[in-house]
Amino acid sequence: MKITIVREQVGSTTEARRDTFDLPDVGPTSISSALQYVARHMDSSIGYYLSCRRGMCACCVVRANGKIETACVVPVTDGMVIEPIRRDLLVADTVVDLSMARNARFDFDNAGNDRPDACTPA
Ligand code: FES
Repeated sequence: MKITIVREQVGSTTEARRDTFDLPDVGPTSISSALQYVARHMDSSIGYYLSCRRGMCACCVVRANGKIETACVVPVTDGMVIEPIRRDLLVADTVVDLSMARNARFDFDNAGNDRPDACTPA
């Protein structure tokens, strides 16, 4: 199975490059597992992020074949192109800075009203 990872570092002044990796066929596996395999066995400089591995935290989101996916629970497919969800939030390769989204989740209610005590235990 081949996957292509669009690679770029924050602040880079050059064009993003595309690295293609030929992975062994291990049957159905997630995008995150494929990225982890590449990092462990082929290129340790790959930037990817994993946390809950259950599709709950959204830390691992990537753009896969043009569609935003939760990498830890979505199967990787042959020929898949994996890239960051937004280049303006890029940290490295597939990793983006989601701190603004996380802060917004805790600082505002669904109506957009400021909730300064939202994280304060009752
Ligand atoms: S690692 Fe938490 S949703 Fe993927």
